[in-house]
Amino acid sequence: MVGGSPLKGELRIAGAKNAALPILCACLLSSDPIELYNVPDLQDVRTMLKLLQQMGVQVYFPDANQRNHLVLNASTINTPEAPYEMVKTMRASILVLGPLLARMGQAKVSLPGGCAIGARPVDQHIKGLKMMGASIQIKKGFIQAKWGEGQDALQGNSIVTDMITVTGTENLLMAATLAKGTTVLENAAREPEVGDLADLLVKMGANISGIGTDRLVIEGVSSLHGATHSVIPDRIETGTFLCAVAAVGGEITIHDCRPDTLDAVLAKLKEAGLKMKKTADSITATMSSRPKPVSFRTSEYPAFPTDMQAQFMALNTIASGGSHITETIFENRFMHVQELNRLGADISIEGNTALVQGVEKLSGAIVMATDLRASASLVIAGLAAQGETQVDRIYHLDRGYDRMELKLTQLGANIRRIK
Ligand code: EPZ
Repeated sequence: MVGGSPLKGELRIAGAKNAALPILCACLLSSDPIELYNVPDLQDVRTMLKLLQQMGVQVYFPDANQRNHLVLNASTINTPEAPYEMVKTMRASILVLGPLLARMGQAKVSLPGGCAIGARPVDQHIKGLKMMGASIQIKKGFIQAKWGEGQDALQGNSIVTDMITVTGTENLLMAATLAKGTTVLENAAREPEVGDLADLLVKMGANISGIGTDRLVIEGVSSLHGATHSVIPDRIETGTFLCAVAAVGGEITIHDCRPDTLDAVLAKLKEAGLKMKKTADSITATMSSRPKPVSFRTSEYPAFPTDMQAQFMALNTIASGGSHITETIFENRFMHVQELNRLGADISIEGNTALVQGVEKLSGAIVMATDLRASASLVIAGLAAQGETQVDRIYHLDRGYDRMELKLTQLGANIRRIK
């Protein structure tokens, strides 16, 4: 890409990746078809669909020429397994564990290894399922789970996770819908994607209260029926495009988004000088000055999301002063720092805090993406830099963004994909 052109125009936001992934797994809880709309067409979604099909789930697209509308039918599951080669490419595969165990009484899921941004253990998922009566062994790198001795279902229980975990909450929530009795999940994650999954489960006949709070109460039912659901818009994609226009200037209108799920990010963007006009499902954002530096620390929802940390850091690299960014969720989510410094940024790291000294201008270079949100950060920085920037390993970007370069081109950016 060649930096320097302001963004102008309109775009629509796709469905949220981190809602779509658990929602696809929820089909395992029922023998009836689940019809989904607004599913984003992303690498991670295709990987999840392949994993489900390998288990025996039927997947079909009623409308042949678009992949956002699909029907899943898990009436015949023949292999309740998630093999290593699938799990190693996508850790969210762990989300099949809870539903498979709840409905089939058995599951064999490869232990996800670590990933670029951290160790990413799943001990809370396992602890919670054990508290629901499951017998779980870790053998040869696999989680082998089944109902307790002589049990014909999981048993409801009160569970407090040691820390707030998004997919941990989602796994336990799905498992609890078919458990015998009541399950209480304390310290539950309140991310909007957890709420979107819960909304689908309720449409399927689950009995859940406390949706959107950190205490979920689930009365188990004997079975769940089919449902139709439209996936919530992606708040991280929305925030990413807002950081882009804040960095390069211009005016864009974002449609089909959910501003109410981004309060912490919108507040920080306002501090940076971005002017925004919101409706219930759109944001018009205008930037006509150099961004002001904004310090923040990441935390669980509704605070500033870790998935927006790298993108906002790109904005801070060209701000009119210093800022500090503290990452509290993952232990190694600063890999974009060295790459941003290759573009002329002035960032130093002290423990889990990055100190950013804003510079007048970045200058283009060849940089390397290391993980999904780091790649988005490098695209934003490249669009703001003088001259040409090349971002390598953009398969990371494709995991979580649906053809980002096309959307940016439509907004006037000078960016193209090199095969
Ligand atoms: C989800 O990951 C998201 N992925 C991540 O998005 C997101 O960054 C993260 O939540 C935090 O918001 C999906 O939803 C598919 P966690 P998840 O369990 O669930 C520790 C992206 O960019 N932990 O909430 O794996 C863990 O190590 C991705 O789209 C345990 O120690 O995150 C971390 O430090 C990246 N044991 C913290 O908790 C456990 O059993 C939060 O992790 C579980 C988690």
